[in-house]
Amino acid sequence: MENIQEAIAKIDSSLVFRRRFGASSMGVYEVEKAGSVYVLKVSGKNYLWGIQHIEQERQLLSRAKKISGITHLVHDYGNTIYGKAILKEYFEGTNLYYLSTRVRNKKLQEKLENTVKEIHSLGFGKLDLNEVNTVLSPDFQDVCLIDLGYAVSFENFPSSRIEEIKFFDLDALKLFVFG
Ligand SMILES: Nc1ncnc2c1ncn2[C@@H]1O[C@H](COP(=O)(O)OP(=O)(O)OP(=O)(O)O)[C@@H](O)[C@H]1O
Ligand SMILES: [Mg+2]
Repeated sequence: MENIQEAIAKIDSSLVFRRRFGASSMGVYEVEKAGSVYVLKVSGKNYLWGIQHIEQERQLLSRAKKISGITHLVHDYGNTIYGKAILKEYFEGTNLYYLSTRVRNKKLQEKLENTVKEIHSLGFGKLDLNEVNTVLSPDFQDVCLIDLGYAVSFENFPSSRIEEIKFFDLDALKLFVFG
């Protein structure tokens, strides 16, 4: 059977596999390319939810190059033999879900509130903000949203719902991320 390194090399022969992120139902891998660490996200060929998830994330990230507090798109591989694949920046740290204490840091909360508002101003929302998709740096001084695969363009909603979606995203940040 083909190993993970061989499969990843078929997407991009310059990638070196480091580890697989466990919880994901798609393929999410830490990889190395030319001495730097990135995250490779692969949908699977017939996995409709995964394909849609990566497509939504790709659409937002290709517009969100100047926003801080997110892991930016490094490369879009498009449709590969393993489905859709993207390469993203890696943000080192601990998933908030696995922290034993709650993060009550006003500065970090404001940072992510600004990130979410900037994403809204690009015309995307319904971000499914939660602890699993938020990573805290090892020194606890920085924080990053690492999964924006739920983001939906406001074009898909009637204008009457947009304010409600924005409110819900900011509320979710307070409730589920900073508790
Ligand atoms: N850019 C990144 N930097 C650091 N860690 C990451 C990054 N991307 C993903 N991870 C880790 O891999 C896990 C799964 O990645 P991601 O959230 O993108 O996939 P997913 O299929 O939505 O998984 P889940 O259902 O657990 O949210 C994350 O919870 C996080 O721990
Ligand atoms: Mg996720």
